Amino acid sequence: MILVVGATAHFGRQTVEALATAGHQVRALSRTPESAGLPAGVEVVRGDLTQAESLAPALSGVNALFLVLPYQMDPAPILRAAQDAGVRRIVFLSSGAVVDGAAEQPDVIAAYHYGVEQAIKATGAEWTFLRIFFPAINSLSFAMQLGGGDVVRGPYAGATSAPVHEGDVAAVAARVLTGDAHAGQVYELTGPESMTQAEQVGVLGSALGRSLSFEEIDDQPVRAQLGQFMDPAFINALFDLMAATAGRPAAVNSLVEDITGRPARTYAQWAADHVADFG
Ligand SMILES: NC(=O)c1ccc[n+]([C@@H]2O[C@H](COP(=O)([O-])OP(=O)(O)OC[C@H]3O[C@@H](n4cnc5c(N)ncnc54)[C@H](OP(=O)(O)O)[C@@H]3O)[C@@H](O)[C@H]2O)c1
Repeated sequence: MILVVGATAHFGRQTVEALATAGHQVRALSRTPESAGLPAGVEVVRGDLTQAESLAPALSGVNALFLVLPYQMDPAPILRAAQDAGVRRIVFLSSGAVVDGAAEQPDVIAAYHYGVEQAIKATGAEWTFLRIFFPAINSLSFAMQLGGGDVVRGPYAGATSAPVHEGDVAAVAARVLTGDAHAGQVYELTGPESMTQAEQVGVLGSALGRSLSFEEIDDQPVRAQLGQFMDPAFINALFDLMAATAGRPAAVNSLVEDITGRPARTYAQWAADHVADFG
């Protein structure tokens, strides 16, 4: 039995679907199983990562665990429950911000994910870390602006990424959870092409049948505005990571294809898959 944590959001949901489609026994954790909306045949169990006592039933009989944790969620209760249940394999959706071998992680995003990675290693289970950087799903943040016009305004028009499709992350996760060749591996998953933010908005426009553009604005007011309702350290880390990519093509690799046997989906494919989200 495989347990997926974060099973009702982007990455976990598609992982559950990929595992179920491939015929694996999969269980999904949710605080609200009644509204999980997962495929028939998937066992959905109630559990809360902040309530240790709710986790033991979810882990009963589980041999592999996929962890997609909300940012800053304490992993200790779920890892303790996994250890108690004798879970053999843990796969974690981590961040490309982590710097291996650094005396100190460069920012709060890296530090959080590095800390979880270390805690997983300390359980003694087989582990695999899937690290991602600026996944395509982040473009959903453009939707609100595009409801009111054809221009996305934001800092760093030239920031680059190789946006990976959440379906490809899920396909890799499903293979890693069920295959035997991935223990102790760190996979930095990328999409197939490096693109700037401005280029992404152009491709999104083609999918939506609209002429969209990206207008660069000063980052400082945006940092200040977002920092009012999100952790300012997180916003600054995110923006610093974006700023550092400007003018440099993002790294692209073939890991998605190597592991799944299918080429990584393009950003154009992602945009076509998400037209309804920009309706
Ligand atoms: N976006 C990026 O740029 C990026 C980059 C690198 C890594 N990542 C990783 O991806 C993660 C985000 O993944 P996501 O967007 O798929 O998920 P998310 O939106 O951050 O989290 C929502 C999911 O977490 C579950 N959840 C939240 N609180 C819970 C609790 N107390 N107990 C049990 N489950 C709880 C929710 O389940 P229910 O509501 O059903 O309970 C839901 O499935 C990040 O935290 C990060 O680790 C993201």
